[in-house]
Amino acid sequence: MNIRTERLLLRPLDLSDAPEIQRLAGDRDVASTTRDIPHPYEDGAAETWINSCRGKTAAGELVIFAITLQKDGSFLGAIGLDLDANRAEAELSYWVGKPFWNQGYATEAAKAVLRHGLVETGLDRVYAAHFSRNPASGRVMQKAGMLHEGFLKGHTEKWGKFEDLELYGVMRERFLGGSSG
Ligand SMILES: CC(C)(COP(=O)(O)OP(=O)(O)OC[C@H]1O[C@@H](n2cnc3c(N)ncnc32)[C@H](O)[C@@H]1OP(=O)(O)O)[C@@H](O)C(=O)NCCC(=O)NCCS
Repeated sequence: MNIRTERLLLRPLDLSDAPEIQRLAGDRDVASTTRDIPHPYEDGAAETWINSCRGKTAAGELVIFAITLQKDGSFLGAIGLDLDANRAEAELSYWVGKPFWNQGYATEAAKAVLRHGLVETGLDRVYAAHFSRNPASGRVMQKAGMLHEGFLKGHTEKWGKFEDLELYGVMRERFLGGSSG
């Protein structure tokens, strides 16, 4: 399915996105603050990732979108919801290619995907985490309406270092304008 926002078209990933994924996610500065993007980003890795996303989507475990610009179709990045086994909660994650940073795109996409998950899909809660050394992602979570819920010291190993994590979450009632968390 597709989601349109003011400037973006969020659409399913396509195998033809692989070269742009390899180019943009292949930037060390994009990989460095994610849990899972490898570096270097080898030939074939994007195709493998797209196919694994398709399998998880078919199994009802993942909702994922390519972030593209409406005006010219440019591929900017990706955003997804990993559903918990109970299918009532999901983890939000995203990345945007470096040439497109600081133009509000991640925030615009995150707001739309939160709405999709919490309102259209009926999830009870969406949560997310970012490395403490990546405050830009914290801003995205805050601007999208998520609450800072906690901090985990040295919780995730990335490239041989233990990273501190900031935890965010939002429940459906709060997202819809209530106050219950
Ligand atoms: C994190 C990321 C998704 C942000 O994407 P983006 O499209 O640039 O985000 P937005 O433009 O919507 O918002 C960025 C915000 O961070 C702020 N910001 C940028 N660099 C910052 C820094 N070093 N310190 C504090 N805030 C910073 C921007 O000013 C902006 O906030 P503002 O609107 O209040 O001014 C992007 O940098 C990225 O993909 N990084 C690599 C992958 C990654 O970290 N993914 C998230 C993993 S949790």
